[in-house]
Amino acid sequence: MAINSTGLQPDREADDNQHRSLTTLAPDAVEALSSTSLRCVECSALYPALEMGQPPRYRCDCGGVLDVETEFKLPQQPTHSDSDVDSMLYGFDAELDGGTPSAGSSWRQLFDERAANPPIWSISSDKMLLDGSGVWRYRELILPAPERFVVTRPEGNTSLYPVGIENCSVGRIGHRQIGAYAGLERFFLKHEGENPTGSFKDRGMTVGVTMANLLGARAVACASTGNTSASLASYAAQAGLEGIVFLPAGNVSGGKLAQSLAYGARTVQIEGDFDDAMRLVEQVCNELGIYLLNSLNPFRVEGQKAIGLEILQQLDWQAPDWLVLPAGNLGNTSAIGKAFRQAYNLSLISHVPRIASIQAAGANPFYKSFAQGFARRETVQADTVATAIRIGNPVSYARARRVIEECDGLVEQVTDEEILAAKAVIDRAGIGCEPASAATLAGVRKLVARGVIKRDEQVVGILTGNLLKDSKTGIPQHVSGSSVKATIEAVRSVLS
Ligand code: F0G
Repeated sequence: MAINSTGLQPDREADDNQHRSLTTLAPDAVEALSSTSLRCVECSALYPALEMGQPPRYRCDCGGVLDVETEFKLPQQPTHSDSDVDSMLYGFDAELDGGTPSAGSSWRQLFDERAANPPIWSISSDKMLLDGSGVWRYRELILPAPERFVVTRPEGNTSLYPVGIENCSVGRIGHRQIGAYAGLERFFLKHEGENPTGSFKDRGMTVGVTMANLLGARAVACASTGNTSASLASYAAQAGLEGIVFLPAGNVSGGKLAQSLAYGARTVQIEGDFDDAMRLVEQVCNELGIYLLNSLNPFRVEGQKAIGLEILQQLDWQAPDWLVLPAGNLGNTSAIGKAFRQAYNLSLISHVPRIASIQAAGANPFYKSFAQGFARRETVQADTVATAIRIGNPVSYARARRVIEECDGLVEQVTDEEILAAKAVIDRAGIGCEPASAATLAGVRKLVARGVIKRDEQVVGILTGNLLKDSKTGIPQHVSGSSVKATIEAVRSVLS
């Protein structure tokens, strides 16, 4: 494969050196990221976010994955002087006593003002565009990049549907069957399939491509089961970057493949599974100086934190008891858990929700590790109808394990039959989702039946992808010969 990308090129001039390192970054970018670091999840080694003279870093020298730590600064209020800027350091392990209740109310006020004013549809200035994004609205907690580098559609602002038996109003009576199926009084579904490219991946991608832009990269790449690649292809096109996606041949749904091709990404189908594609893309990115945008890239995870923050804001900063989501490569479990922990440390919320990560039984390495108290990291040869989560060796294992341990969370598995049954319930309620997303409802139902989640606890489940991503799996296919003549008699006889 001929890839003529030259990786990180701040000035974008021709250069033979494919490992061009960070030497001539824009001064405002360097300044903005000066208090942002990367900490190894395994050995706690600390690296600066931008290492001058080095290519971008995705792993610690020990091989461990990295986690972003940054200094959160409340922006200066017009009435205050510079010296009044409220500055706090909140990494994942930050001490709780740093987050005073008054700091919490200042943050709440900031985010609520941005959500309410200006309206989401206004594009009359770049700042309004940022406030209207369900990711960049929380920018101080996501990535302190100068605004001129930000690449946003915008994304986020997805619906939080009340679907519980009790919290479903008359106008949503059809949604109540979801609550009844789960056995929950107060149940919400957050539909991340309402993002611009139809999945939650846009939340991480806007931040990842913003970093690529800031670093002067020319090409970006990922391995994907389909959604990350669709998102990368879209955002790369917007930013004028070359997009390269590695897909497991034959195991990506038609809708997702079509998106990558239509958005113009160079699409490489690997004769292997996602785990093979992941291994190869990491190697090729390091060799050719292409910017890697899998969730191995810690800045992608920062963007996905916004799912958790937006849920909290939609619930008026009252944290739910449980957050339930499908789990594959484990980026989302890591991101949402981190968001809740940081929101708690900033006193935005008064308790941390418990997280339940749901895996397909045929792609369950995280479940297997959890079942033995995380004594060993397991890998499997993955197989499930939910191709989005057909992953046997999840990259974010260490980050997600920490999340589950810290929030008293758990990992559950559900069969393909349970996934398809739950999908039918979500689809027939008029909401719809792709198969992997339905693992959420299947998992909730199982955990309620086992008494782990109590019937009166407040639960938020995440639907990760749009129904149209996969128009085949679990959907009744049109029966050939079922059309009728274009006469009123023929139509009457069909409907009677
Ligand atoms: N649901 C959907 C629809 C997904 O596309 C994915 C992951 C997940 C759940 C699992 O999320 O990996 O953060 O645990 N899709 C990736 C991709 C792997 O390449 O699109 P995770």
